[in-house]
Amino acid sequence: MANADRSDDPAFGLYVHWPFCLSKCPYCDFNSHVRHAAIDEARFVRAFAAEIAATAARVPSRTVSTIFFGGGTPSLMQPATVGAILDAIGRHWSIAPDVEVTLEANPTSVEATRFRGYRAAGVNRVSLGVQALDDAALKELGRLHTADEALAAVAVARSNFERYSFDLIYARPGQTPRAWAAELRRAIAEAGEHLSLYQLTIEQDTPFFALREAGKLVVPDDDTARILYDTTQDVCAAAGLPAYEISNHARPGAECRHNLVYWRAHEYAGVGPGAHGRLDVAGERRATATEKRPEAWLMRVESAGHGVVTDEALTPEQMADEFLLMGLRLAEGVDPERYAKLAGRRLNPRRIAILREEGAVETTPDGMLRVTLAGFPVLDAVVADLAA
Ligand SMILES: C[S@@+](CC[C@H](N)C(=O)[O-])C[C@H]1O[C@@H](n2cnc3c(N)ncnc32)[C@H](O)[C@@H]1O
Ligand code: SF4
Repeated sequence: MANADRSDDPAFGLYVHWPFCLSKCPYCDFNSHVRHAAIDEARFVRAFAAEIAATAARVPSRTVSTIFFGGGTPSLMQPATVGAILDAIGRHWSIAPDVEVTLEANPTSVEATRFRGYRAAGVNRVSLGVQALDDAALKELGRLHTADEALAAVAVARSNFERYSFDLIYARPGQTPRAWAAELRRAIAEAGEHLSLYQLTIEQDTPFFALREAGKLVVPDDDTARILYDTTQDVCAAAGLPAYEISNHARPGAECRHNLVYWRAHEYAGVGPGAHGRLDVAGERRATATEKRPEAWLMRVESAGHGVVTDEALTPEQMADEFLLMGLRLAEGVDPERYAKLAGRRLNPRRIAILREEGAVETTPDGMLRVTLAGFPVLDAVVADLAA
């Protein structure tokens, strides 16, 4: 595990959203769009550069510690586009010598051919959306790649980047704990230092939601999902990839530093359509969000210089709630002193005592409050209880 976080250290992350995909997966509710005409990447680069400049004017003098190209499918961008965005970032902020620059990639053979170019542009970590190592499951998830193609892309990632990760989705329709354990072991054999393992969530307004409502998609029930979760923890921990966050596993020290910025409630800026930020301006923490629709975002940036449509100061209460909601996802837990500083009040010791008796939380020897393995499956309830 990375050193437990106790301070308001100066981590500053930058999230860059690329909102396009080749096709829309039926389970996905991310801000991703399919366009049949070619994307004018040069126009997007100009807009990203403008929004980066506008953001830097609000939060100057930061040192960027992490950059994350997320999507959508950022691996549809030309390497030169990624390079131009990184150049724009470097023109406005200093960049930490050990900056982590991650790019999310879909594991098709076409996209893997761009990995070398991404590395040359400055990317030093890729995160691949493998999702499954079973062709029938990939088809059901609406993916455009096969298991072999995904593994070939993982091999290209391995040969180009010291740091790579891939995502799998479990608790898929019909998936048994035994089949998942076997698939996970195969994945671990191909994994480097990091794996993201997400339980399938049926999001509202997705085709999967409609199919489930119509009885045409049956996902594992709660008891099976719990066994699948426990299997995930056991298999990964035994392989030296313990969970450092509810869905993320890494060898100690290899955690995704960008995602830690969110979970530790540090400062980050978001640029691109539908990107969120948390900026510290004039002693306030501000929650920002940009226009979601790609073309509307472009036009807004071209006329106003930025695409921000929401920009609100968070109250101490909101900051404290967010701190718990994000921080309790982490195995390291949260620092109760930092909570008290943000909220202006301490966590309720009686509630902590009850949750501790129920086995849902524990206090570490160095005073961090964390959710136990038994508490993770009921994390939302634990957070709600502590925040009340
Ligand atoms: C923002 S997506 C982008 C990654 C990339 N476009 C891809 O799909 O490979 C990040 C990850 O979220 C996960 N994800 C998306 N929707 C999900 C859902 N409904 N349930 C569980 N995991 C999901 C997938 O594992 C995906 O790789
Ligand atoms: S899961 Fe990834 S590829 Fe599929 S629609 Fe969502 S962002 Fe695009």
